[in-house]
Amino acid sequence: MSEKHIDEISGVETTGHEWDGIRELNNPMPRWWVWTFYATILWAIGYAIAYPAIPMITSATKGYFGFSSRAELQQDLDLAKASQMKFQDMIAAKTVQEIDADPALREFAIAGGASAFKVNCAPCHGSGASGGPGFPNLNDDDWLWGGDLDSIQTTIAHGIRFDSDADTHVSEMPAFADMLDKDQTRQVAAYVWSLTNKPSDEALAEAGKQVFLDNCAACHGEDAKGKPEMGAPDLADAIWLKGRGEDAIIRQVTAPKHGVMPAWSARLGDTTVKELTVFVHALGGGQ
Ligand code: HEC
Ligand code: HEC
Repeated sequence: MSEKHIDEISGVETTGHEWDGIRELNNPMPRWWVWTFYATILWAIGYAIAYPAIPMITSATKGYFGFSSRAELQQDLDLAKASQMKFQDMIAAKTVQEIDADPALREFAIAGGASAFKVNCAPCHGSGASGGPGFPNLNDDDWLWGGDLDSIQTTIAHGIRFDSDADTHVSEMPAFADMLDKDQTRQVAAYVWSLTNKPSDEALAEAGKQVFLDNCAACHGEDAKGKPEMGAPDLADAIWLKGRGEDAIIRQVTAPKHGVMPAWSARLGDTTVKELTVFVHALGGGQ
């Protein structure tokens, strides 16, 4: 034991260690530091009692509050699911008109419809629903089968010319190759084209009007503005599903092409079909 040694200059006791004549002063820790240190010890003890802290063989001690981040996550998930179920149940129970009229429900349906659209519909209608040759644009107000909520719902649920659904849209345009001769066919094509463009020959178009009224008006309407109950498109607008120009019209008249769309209610369920309906209706062209 070395005796106490007091440093002559500072008057502070030294630790008694000495290296080559250099001694270390034994200054006490600042008081604030010591109390902070004790406080952290107390905090750690409290924490270890209140929360899971000490590792055991299979799990840690549970802690006084029984807190677990896993349980907390589960709680959040349950809550989110419950509120989603609430919306989903409401959509299942309501008509598309009721869903469309309720702002919160409508927003939920549009979000659900948009994600179902990306997966199921975008391959044919395009990711922006703007269609392509043979596949209608769903953003515009030009509808083959009707653009009100009920019509859209029926179209999506049962499809178009989709044989395995009993309620599918079936209407088809007949092939006129045997019913109209070449001249009549050219005339009616010129007439239809003249409704929105300059025909190749005014006289042909003139003559085609009667051919149209006799053969086409039953489905496309006397004014050629189409009939949704027949799936017959508006021929008096500049939107062409099958192709532009008199030659394309002649092709459709002699050997018509028909679009086919699957029925979705069996595949996706009625709730998703309702969401898709509200979504498509909201794209811009809904009636
Ligand atoms: C296999 C390709 C294909 C897929 C997938 C498809 N469609 Fe269609 N859809 C078509 C075709 C083709 C038509 C036009 C049929 C016709 O010429 O009458 C059409 C027409 C429609 C119409 C009617 C448009 C109008 O003008 O009346 C709606 C609405 C529609 N589709 C919605 C959907 C929705 C929603 C989905 C996804 C759940 C979907 N489609 C998936 C091919 C498809
Ligand atoms: C029985 C009803 C019916 C009759 C009659 C009919 N069409 Fe159509 N037409 C349709 C349907 C349905 C379509 C749409 C086919 C599809 O959706 O794929 C169509 C499509 C067309 C198209 C394509 C339009 C586009 O946007 O590309 C043209 C052009 C057309 N018809 C012209 C005629 C002319 C001309 C006649 C008379 C000679 C006629 N149609 C008679 C039902 C009819």
